[in-house]
Amino acid sequence: MLRTHTCGELSLEHVNQEVVLCGWVQRVRDKGGMIWLDLRDRYGITQLLFEEGKTQANVLEIARSLGREFVISAKGQVIERLSKNDKIATGDIEIRISELNILNPAKLPPFLIEDETDGGDDIRMKYRYLDLRRNNVRKNLQLRHQVARHTRAYLDDLDFIEVETPVLIKSTPEGARDFVVPSRMNPGEFYALPQSPQTFKQLLMVAGFDRYYQIVKCFRDEDLRADRQPEFTQIDCEMSFVTQEDVLNTFEGLIRNLFAKVKGLDLPEVPRMTYADAMRLYGSDKPDIRFDMQFVELKGAAQDLTSGKGFSVFDDAELVVGICAPDSAVYTRKQLDELTEWLKRPQIGAKGLIYVRYNTDGSLKSSVDKFYAEEDIKKWAEAFNAKPGDLILIISGASDKARKQLNELRLEMGTRLGLRNPDEYRALWVLDFPLLEYGEAENRWFAMHHPFTSPKPEDIALLDKNLGEVRANAYDMVINGVEVGGGSVRIFEKELQKQMFGILGFTEEEAQEQFGFLMNAFEFGAPPHAGIAFGFDRLCSIFGGADSIRDFIAFPKNNSGRDVMIDSPSVISDAQLKELAIKVE
Ligand code: AMO
Repeated sequence: MLRTHTCGELSLEHVNQEVVLCGWVQRVRDKGGMIWLDLRDRYGITQLLFEEGKTQANVLEIARSLGREFVISAKGQVIERLSKNDKIATGDIEIRISELNILNPAKLPPFLIEDETDGGDDIRMKYRYLDLRRNNVRKNLQLRHQVARHTRAYLDDLDFIEVETPVLIKSTPEGARDFVVPSRMNPGEFYALPQSPQTFKQLLMVAGFDRYYQIVKCFRDEDLRADRQPEFTQIDCEMSFVTQEDVLNTFEGLIRNLFAKVKGLDLPEVPRMTYADAMRLYGSDKPDIRFDMQFVELKGAAQDLTSGKGFSVFDDAELVVGICAPDSAVYTRKQLDELTEWLKRPQIGAKGLIYVRYNTDGSLKSSVDKFYAEEDIKKWAEAFNAKPGDLILIISGASDKARKQLNELRLEMGTRLGLRNPDEYRALWVLDFPLLEYGEAENRWFAMHHPFTSPKPEDIALLDKNLGEVRANAYDMVINGVEVGGGSVRIFEKELQKQMFGILGFTEEEAQEQFGFLMNAFEFGAPPHAGIAFGFDRLCSIFGGADSIRDFIAFPKNNSGRDVMIDSPSVISDAQLKELAIKVE
C-alpha cells in the first residue's frame, strides 16, 4: 500500500503518529510562511501543513508547485489543529508534512471540483470522471451501492437466487422499441437487447427455480425524460406457487426494508387502491398521495350539479371535475389567469379553467356567476367539502382528457402549496389494471402491462365480450407519484396464452414464431407464477431525494440518448458495416 490511512479517518487519537496519505489536491492556501493543502480522496479531506523553517525547503518547493487535482502522496506527523473545523470529520487534526511526492500532475480541470461547481451540465457529462470526484455525485453512487447490497441481502434471506439471463436476445413487436445488434455470423439477422428479462424469468420458473431475482440492465429505445434512460437497471423478480397477495407482501417487505436500512425510516404499511379509483380520484395511475386534493365530480357517474343552467361548456361536457386547493382563495385574478394560461399550454391542452373562491367571510365568488345562482355554487362547495379560504378549480370535457389535465393541475397546485415534501415518503400499491388498452391509431388491442399477464379469473368470461373491461392481476408500486415498480400474475396455461396472442392480433404462426419457445415450455409442467420488477435507478433517485435518475447512474446518457464522454453512438466503418452485412456494395 502506498498509504497508511485514507483522507477521512484521522482524528485526535492519531496525534503524533507518522502517516502517509495519498489523494488529489483540492486546494492550496499559500500564506507566505505557511501553506495549507486540502487533500481529498473518496473518504474525505485532510489538511496538510507546510511551514517555513520547519518543513524542508525542497518539500516546500514541491508544495508550491502543486495545482488543483495533482495526485500526490504525503508523509508526516498528525498534530492537533489550532483552529478546528467542525464541518469535516478530520477537522480536529492536520498533518505536518515531511515528505511529499507528486504521483501524477494534472491539467487544470474544466470546472471546479467542489460541491458548488461552476460547470454546466454538458461539460460535466463530458468529463463525467471528474464530476464523479464531487461529493454529491459520489454519494449518490454510494447510496446506489447500499440499495443494491440491501436488496440482495433481503432477497437472499428469502431463498431467492440471482440468475443472469442473456443480453443478446430476440426482437419482439410488443412493448417499447428494441435496440438491435447485427449478427456477423448470421448475415441479415439481428439480436435485440432485452427490454426486460420477462420471458427468461418465466422460463426459470418452468425450470423449477421457484424464486429468482436479478439486478439487471434493460434496454428500451424510447423518448427520454428525467426518469427514463435508454439503458436502466431493474430489480427483476419472479416467484412460483404464489398468489398476488404473496407477491405484494414479499415486495412491500423489500421496499420497507430498504427504507429502514438505507434511509433509517419506518415506512408505514403501503395502502392499496384500484386502478379505477386512482383514475377517478387522481386522474393518474401513479397518484402522489403525500397530499389530498382528491377529484370531485360535479357532473359524472354519480351526480350532475351543473347542467341546465345555460352554461354550454358544462352542459356539453361528459365530465365536470375539480379539486379544492386549501387556503388558496387569496389567489388573485392575475394568478388565476396565469394558472389558466399554464393549463392551456399544448403540453396540457386544457380549454379553460373555472374557479370558485370560498372567501374567508363565507361568500362564494365564481367565474361562472353569470350562469349559476349562489345556491348552486353552494352545492358545489359542499360537494368539495370546501371551507372558507379554499379555492375550487374545475375542468370539464371528455372524461379521460379532463382527468389527465386536472391531474397536472393537482400536481402543480401541490407543488405551489408546498405539499410535496421531498423528505416525506408515501408508497401506494395500484391494483387491478385493465388487461388491455385500445390503440386507436393501430386499430387493435395492446397488452397494458405485457402479453404474459393473467386476466383476473372472474373477468376471463369477458374476454369473449368486452375486452376493455377485463381487469388484470397486475400491480404497480408508486412512491410519491413515481412508478417505481410493476408486475403481474402470469398466464401459465398454453391455451390462455394462445388466446391472449390472438386478442393482440397475432396469427397463430406469428405467435408461434415470436413466442413459441414460451408456449412450448408451458406444455412441460409450468407452475403458477407471478413477479415484479422495480426500477432500480428510480428507487435510488427517490432515496436520494432527486427527480432525475441520471444523477444515480455512473455514466448516463443525455436526453438525446448520447454518451457525450465516449461520444456514442457513432458511425462505424464501411468495412465493419460490410462484415455485418448491413451495407452491401
Ligand atoms: P415495467 O415495464 O413496468 O415492467 O418496468 C418495471 C420498472 O422499471 C422502471 N423503468 C424504467 N426506469 C428507467 N428508465 C426506463 N426507460 C424505464 N422503463 C421502466 C420503472 C418500472 O416500474 N417485465 C416487467 C416486470 C414484470 O412484469 O415482472 C417490466 O419490465 O420503475
